[in-house]
Amino acid sequence: MELMEDVRTHYLLKFPEEQPPDLEPAPISYVTLTAEHLPQVHDILHRTFWAGINVVSDSLQYGPQQATIVAMYKHLVVGCAFLSSPQETYITYLAVRAGWENAQIATSMLYHLISRNPNKDITLHVSANNPAMLLYNRFGFKAEEFVVGFYEDYLDSLSRGSKNAFRLRMRR
Ligand SMILES: CC(C)(COP(=O)(O)OP(=O)(O)OC[C@H]1O[C@@H](n2cnc3c(N)ncnc32)[C@H](O)[C@@H]1OP(=O)(O)O)[C@@H](O)C(=O)NCCC(=O)NCCS
Repeated sequence: MELMEDVRTHYLLKFPEEQPPDLEPAPISYVTLTAEHLPQVHDILHRTFWAGINVVSDSLQYGPQQATIVAMYKHLVVGCAFLSSPQETYITYLAVRAGWENAQIATSMLYHLISRNPNKDITLHVSANNPAMLLYNRFGFKAEEFVVGFYEDYLDSLSRGSKNAFRLRMRR
């Protein structure tokens, strides 16, 4: 929001005669994935995790209502969360757009995913030193396995992320 305010101020300085762009604040909405979200969603996932993620297109075919959550600020995708399928209920990706962290967006997406899949255990893997562990703990996820080298093939040698992971489960 601060960045957008800066952009607006800059615009007004550069084009004082013109009508400033509309900056009315809007609530963040949590919606089901549709095809028009895909380019922005893939962009967030590629920047956050690794290039080449394209599994999200599959989510459109397999129960998107239960398996996908997209956080929107107006037309901007600010976060996304996915389950592998409504049957497996394994969280494949949870990511918030850079610059939009610490606004409880991940918490809200997780809440919606869990609510849309009542009576089902939810599982995931998380890198051993990822602060998101705190987020998952708060929802009652418990570690049930420590997997050495889980992210070996995905994280490059310069990454600060641990290649080891916890498998977490939230029992229902
Ligand atoms: C992890 C991530 C999804 C958190 O998104 P977010 O919208 O900023 O999270 P929230 O605002 O809902 O924060 C919830 C809690 O998570 C924890 N948390 C999240 N990010 C944290 C960080 N960088 N450092 C410390 N704690 C953090 C805190 O306990 C926080 O609670 P608080 O606000 O009361 O302190 C986001 O930082 C992200 O996209 N990270 C990269 C991808 C990733 O690691 N995904 C999860 C593994 S699959």
